[in-house]
Amino acid sequence: VREGLGRSLVGAIDDGTKTVRFVIYEAERSAELAAHQLDKTEVQPQEGWYEQDPLEILHHIKVCAESAIDQLTELGYSKDDIVTLGITNQRETTIAWDKYTGEPLHPAIAWNDIRTDSTVDAILAKVPDRNKNYLKNISGLPISPYFSALKMRWLKDNVKAVRRASRDKRLLFGTVDSWIVWNLTGGPHGGLHITDVTNASRTLLMNLETLNWDPMLCRLFGIHRESLPQIRSSSEVYGIVKDGSVLDGIRISGILGNQQSALVGQNCLQAGQAKNTYRSGCFLLYNTGTRRVQSTHGLLTTVAYKLGPNAPAVYALEGSIAVAGGAMKFLRDNLKLIKDVAQDTENIAGQVFSTGDVYFVPALNGLYAPYWRKDARGIICGLTAFTTKNHIIRAALEAVCFQTRDILEAMNKDCGMPLSKLNVDGKMTSNDLLMQLQADLIGIPVLRAHTWDMSALGVAIMAGNSVGVWSCEKWKHHATPTDTFLPTTTDDDRDARYTKWKMAVQRSLGWATT
Ligand code: G3P
Repeated sequence: VREGLGRSLVGAIDDGTKTVRFVIYEAERSAELAAHQLDKTEVQPQEGWYEQDPLEILHHIKVCAESAIDQLTELGYSKDDIVTLGITNQRETTIAWDKYTGEPLHPAIAWNDIRTDSTVDAILAKVPDRNKNYLKNISGLPISPYFSALKMRWLKDNVKAVRRASRDKRLLFGTVDSWIVWNLTGGPHGGLHITDVTNASRTLLMNLETLNWDPMLCRLFGIHRESLPQIRSSSEVYGIVKDGSVLDGIRISGILGNQQSALVGQNCLQAGQAKNTYRSGCFLLYNTGTRRVQSTHGLLTTVAYKLGPNAPAVYALEGSIAVAGGAMKFLRDNLKLIKDVAQDTENIAGQVFSTGDVYFVPALNGLYAPYWRKDARGIICGLTAFTTKNHIIRAALEAVCFQTRDILEAMNKDCGMPLSKLNVDGKMTSNDLLMQLQADLIGIPVLRAHTWDMSALGVAIMAGNSVGVWSCEKWKHHATPTDTFLPTTTDDDRDARYTKWKMAVQRSLGWATT
């Protein structure tokens, strides 16, 4: 085990929906030293199906780690300075594999995949009044295709290899963190089958109070306890890398879902603090401390982090938006309206002063919070003979902002205390126009972190904290440098536009069933 006498570096594996990154930080200065990133292949075998290759994830981790470690050498450090590793990941994405061969039994089913539509209906048929919120008191989540239990059920119902493995007691399920840890720590030759409490809280199988798999939920979804990983805290030494890679011998001591990790990276470690991360989706998390707040306005209750096996869990209210940056990708790949997501959305949308009353509801895979409508579909409305692509691109940017306002409205009602500012991060926040529109459409200042990649940072802090080289307590007092965007609109202006947005949303609901 590397104890890291001397300079203490912490590595972070960040498996996102579209990319894998490996980042190395120097704990003492909270400074990023080296990073490497690779794009992932996203496969869409059918409409609404999103798959990833579990082996590609492992391959990319190795390549990214090697490249980041090479950069270290050029900076005068050595890989022996890396004292520990953290893992952060896209949440809910589900993998099934064989305990004895290590082979994935099916591609990973990604979080935004909606193939489980009819699985949701089958589960709803088993609960009183087909109430999608029936399990919320226990799990914090509505019954929706988003969550892992539905994907596990679908795999058992539809994939012969998964059924056979289940019958032969060889089946292991996991979110991507579990898959990575199992492989890094030895795979079929003794890998650890674990997950952290934040990832487990996204499966619809964990009881938010006991922080363990709930027997009633496992029965309802027909998932055996033996195929599920052990639930651990987000910050403790779980094991040591034993996969023969460049990371061999390094401890793993932090795991967090990527949105929870961004909450930590954004320094929202106290109740009442919140952040919004803009990537392919958009996720607003509000730290509620050790209190589990039950939303009555369409938000999720989720675990934010657990600082060690004996520490209490800290919870968050979450507003999840399925399509944010994904709408820009749709404009690029499907409608061919732009070539470069980052530059074109800012430049082209900036050529007009408004959307010309055009609204774009990007319900490409249904709508998540606060609506939770799997039957919603995308809609562009308000088109006139005057509309150009510039207006549509601007409407796509505004859609991200209006969806954020939807979440803030729900959060204010649930918490009774409106946010006075919004901390933001994620790659999309480099778009100044988006940031200004966001401030204008919600009427509070938007504070953009200079470091856009808060997910990797958050889990690095967690991992460093558990081995004593980084302190969460100290991090609470760290001042994160930000740019501020102030609102330039009036309340009346904002509310009138928001009313129109809500009209557009109404038109998108139920579209998939008509
Ligand atoms: O819940 C899904 C979320 O974790 C995905 O995050 O940033 O990879 O799109 P991202």
